[in-house]
Order: sequence, then structure tokens, then C-alpha cells
Amino acid sequence: MSASAARRAAQQVLLRVFEEGAYADRALTGAAAALDRRDRALAQQLAYGTVQRVRALDHGIEALGGRSVTRLDPPVRAALRLAGYQLAYMDGIPARAAVHESVELVREAHLERAVGFANAVLRRLAGGLRALLEGLPEGTPAEAGLRHSYPDWVAETWWRDWGGAEALGLMRAQNEPPETVVRWNRRRPGRPGGTPDPDLPDALRVDRVEPAELESGLVWPQSRGSQLAGLAVASRPGERVLDLCAAPGGKATQLDGEVTAVEIHEGRARELEANVAVLGATNVRVVRADALQLPAELRGFDRALVDAPCSGLGVLAARPDLRWRARPLPELQLALVRAAAERLRPGGTLVYSVCTLNSDENEAVVSAAGLEVDDLGAEWPRFRHPRRPEFLLTLPHRHGTSGFFVARLRAP
Ligand SMILES: C[S@@+](CC[C@H](N)C(=O)[O-])C[C@H]1O[C@@H](n2cnc3c(N)ncnc32)[C@H](O)[C@@H]1O
Repeated sequence: MSASAARRAAQQVLLRVFEEGAYADRALTGAAAALDRRDRALAQQLAYGTVQRVRALDHGIEALGGRSVTRLDPPVRAALRLAGYQLAYMDGIPARAAVHESVELVREAHLERAVGFANAVLRRLAGGLRALLEGLPEGTPAEAGLRHSYPDWVAETWWRDWGGAEALGLMRAQNEPPETVVRWNRRRPGRPGGTPDPDLPDALRVDRVEPAELESGLVWPQSRGSQLAGLAVASRPGERVLDLCAAPGGKATQLDGEVTAVEIHEGRARELEANVAVLGATNVRVVRADALQLPAELRGFDRALVDAPCSGLGVLAARPDLRWRARPLPELQLALVRAAAERLRPGGTLVYSVCTLNSDENEAVVSAAGLEVDDLGAEWPRFRHPRRPEFLLTLPHRHGTSGFFVARLRAP
């Protein structure tokens, strides 16, 4: 195992994410391609953790280093952030190693003139960064946003919706690695390993996703919160079902009945088709179209699923860079719900789900749609929304899974 190779890959990810706007998971795939499994895991931990904690880390680097991080050369900035993450948040990594390796990263970038500066700052970080960050206050949204490294608007939104204690729980939980859960795809023969969940019949918690099971379509990586949203559709064989936001297909391939799976983006629609094939979901037909301008013949459905694009505030643990780019999308979500409702037969049902924890994109969208609401909380009391028991809400700090809001509505 070579921790140096893992650190080098992590630094590449930081440069791609912060200097070029790349997605962390894609950047990691490229940067860690040549690493073995253990090094790749370390590179991921270093890169993802640093991306998540960058706001707090920059605060500490500026306080102890005496220079604005925006004025540093990108490789120096990345090396300091990377070392800072190890020093402040990881146990079991000797400070000496974190400092030495980050100095080497600066040297390898041919920034000889910055080596002395980096060395001096890193020694100060080793001496005081952890204590400085642990001592930051967290009594207001602004303080908590800095300490736990979230944008102010996210801290303010959670404070407003949940109050300080719950908001802090959410912040802490989404700075930890997420659960690894797969959905057992019973369309394929075999029985995957893993720990079942009492309420979600196909959910299995695993240490890692087995590549062979993934390739054969026996499992699909899907958090318990996401599986719950698919289950809430409750479609049955023989019914006609419309999935308006379908790619990559986790939920579409979970559904019974004759499923029309709509996806707007060409590339994602192709990915959806490939996933449908691997999973053997012969009941799913993919349609590449804009859900807001559907072909006229797509109507009279028994059920619809609108698993809408959203700010993703419930999946920040799994997508480390998302907190820095997330935007609420309530107008698009409402338009999608209305488009789905128009395509239902009278009395048909519509599940609206989003992987976010923000009342503007959750209950406010449902209220604006003005449709009758089913009592999902009575069906799944464990996941009942704390303020609105007719809805479901999975919470990372309470249920240990991604945050999903789920509502089931009824066409007149
Ligand atoms: C949250 S993802 C859906 C995840 C999917 N339901 C699953 O379980 O795997 C939202 C998807 O909606 C698609 N989308 C966004 N706007 C759309 C539109 N107007 N019409 C159809 N699809 C759209 C996005 O490209 C994205 O693939």
C-alpha cells in the first residue's frame, strides 16, 4: 500500500474539483484509476473529506497561516487543505507524515519557491488546527455553517425548518461516510449477502458492493431512503405507471406494472436503457423526452412517480461537492408534479419524491399542487415526517440513510 500515491490522487481530485469545477466522484475515477482497492479507499476518504470540510479548513489555514487561501498557487492550496484535513479530522495518521507528504506534493508541482512557506504553514497547522476547529462555536447558523463546513444558506434553511439541535445533527451526520446499501434485484437468480432492513424488503446493508453482483444485475446500489420512495409508488402488475424523471433508473426498475420511464437527457436516457437491460426489467420502456412536453399519447396512467431534480440536501454525505453547488428548484418541481397529474386517470396516484431536506422543495411543493394527499405515515410509521405525519421523511442523523421526502397524491 502506498499512502503517497493515495495522497497524490486526492490532490488531483481537489485540483479538478476546486480549480475546474469537476464532480468529485468523476475526478476520483480518473485520478485513482491505477490504485489498488485500499489506496483507492484512502484517496476517496482524503479527497471527499477535504472537499466537504473545505470551508472550515480554509478558515483554519488563513487563521494560522496568515495568508488568504485565494492568493495561493492551486497546488499549494490543495496540499495545505489535504494536510489540514488529515491533521484536524483523521485519527491514526501521524502529523509528521501528513506534513512531509504535503510538502512533497508542493515540490512535485515544481513550486520550489513555495516549499518553505508550505513547510512553515503546515507546522503551524500541525500544532493548532485541530484545536482551533474544535473550538469554533456553533450556536447560530453562521457559526455552525463555518464550523461544520456548510454554505450559510444550508445552515439557515435547516435552522429555520428544524431548529438548532436537529440542524447540528444533520450537519454532523452528513460529514460522515454514508451507509452502503444495495437493493436485491429479484429478477436475477441468486441471493446477495448483507444485513436486511425490517421495513424495506429488498434493502441489504453491505460493507462493499460486490462487482460480480453488480455486473450480473443481482444488486443495485440504492440507499434505504431512495428504496422507500420507490416502494411508496406501490404499483402492481397490470397497472400502467409513468416515471417522469427516470435516469439512472434505480426506482423505475423497482416498479411493477408496465412502466414508461421518461428522461430528458440523451446520455442519461442511454445509461437508463443500459441499466434496465442489466437488471432485466423487461417491464420498463424508456422514452427520451421532456416531461413538461410529453407526447400526447402518454396519458391515462394508474400511477406516476416524480423523483424530481432537487438541491440534494439529503445526499450531501455521498456527494461531497454538492453542498457547494446545490440550488433549490421548487418551480421546476411543481411544474413536474402538475405535468404528471395531467397524465393520470381519475383517482390515479402520484408519488413526489426528492432527496432533499428543505421545506421549500418538500411540503411547499405538495401544498402548491393542491391535490388530495394519502396518509403515507400510517403505512410507514418509522419514517413519518416529524411535522407532517402524512408524508415520509428519512433523516440521515435519525435513520442513518440519505434524506428523502416522499408524498403520495391523488388525482381528482
Ligand atoms: C433525481 S434524478 C432521478 C433519479 C431516478 N429516479 C432514480 O431513482 O434512479 C432526476 C432526473 O430527472 C431528469 N430530468 C430533469 N428534468 C427533466 C425533465 N424536464 N423531463 C424529464 N427528465 C428530467 C434528470 O436528467 C435526472 O436524470
